[in-house]
Amino acid sequence: MTATIISVVQQKGGVGKSTICMNVAGAYVEAGYKVLVVDADPQGSALSWAAAAPEGTPFPAHVSGLAQMGTKLHTELRRQAEDYDIILVDTPPHADAPQPRSALKMSDFALLPMQCTPIDLNSSYAERALVFEIAEVNEDLKARVLFSRVDKRLVIGREVAKAMRDFGIPTIEPGVRQRKSLQEAYAFGTCITSMEPKSQEAQDFRNLAENILKHIAEDEPVIEYIDRVLAAEQEASQGVA
Ligand SMILES: Nc1ncnc2c1ncn2[C@@H]1O[C@H](COP(=O)(O)OP(=O)(O)O)[C@@H](O)[C@H]1O
Ligand SMILES: [Mg+2]
Repeated sequence: MTATIISVVQQKGGVGKSTICMNVAGAYVEAGYKVLVVDADPQGSALSWAAAAPEGTPFPAHVSGLAQMGTKLHTELRRQAEDYDIILVDTPPHADAPQPRSALKMSDFALLPMQCTPIDLNSSYAERALVFEIAEVNEDLKARVLFSRVDKRLVIGREVAKAMRDFGIPTIEPGVRQRKSLQEAYAFGTCITSMEPKSQEAQDFRNLAENILKHIAEDEPVIEYIDRVLAAEQEASQGVA
């Protein structure tokens, strides 16, 4: 067995990385996969999430704290990959943290959660630079942006979604909507597919989990489009000048 490794990366805090990791993990467990969540964030949100589970009803996936591995995280991921079908890596929100960089080296897929605001779009260029850099050494790496904490009523969100066409890294559907039930899932140490299996949010996470595997199987690796994206960007900036 060699696990498919999915890293959830975004330098900005509070965008929903841990929420996405835990709920996507829950959807994969429900689908019958053997799943590990690696908490690579020293803040330990995924670990404390699982610790909130009531006695006798543990969080459905295994959760392991590996933040202390730092730059060596990828070697530990390689070892753990033998025992699981899918590994999700939850990473810290710091630009210079070693864990996201190390995790991406061993990953099949980078999932970049982003809130639909201009400020989030701007700060996501730093994350894109990291993904592009690691794609030079991990030539199979694929990546998608995931809109997180989506509020469909926000006009600005729709404008940002349009601007994403120039970002280069494509988006994945469905986005994660802003929902209280996802905060409650954390408080109860569970995931939305267990807590409210018939809800729209649970179905969205099942669809998201399935689409991630589809994109891993079918997408063009990031290395294949870096030059194209950067050339188009340069052309556009010269056009403005
Ligand atoms: N889709 C969502 N709907 C409602 N609340 C959310 C959603 N995603 C995240 N949150 C809340 O926002 C806060 C930060 O989320 P978290 O997953 O810890 O983000 P990150 O790991 O990127 O820092 C938490 O309180 C969490 O419950
Ligand atoms: Mg987190």
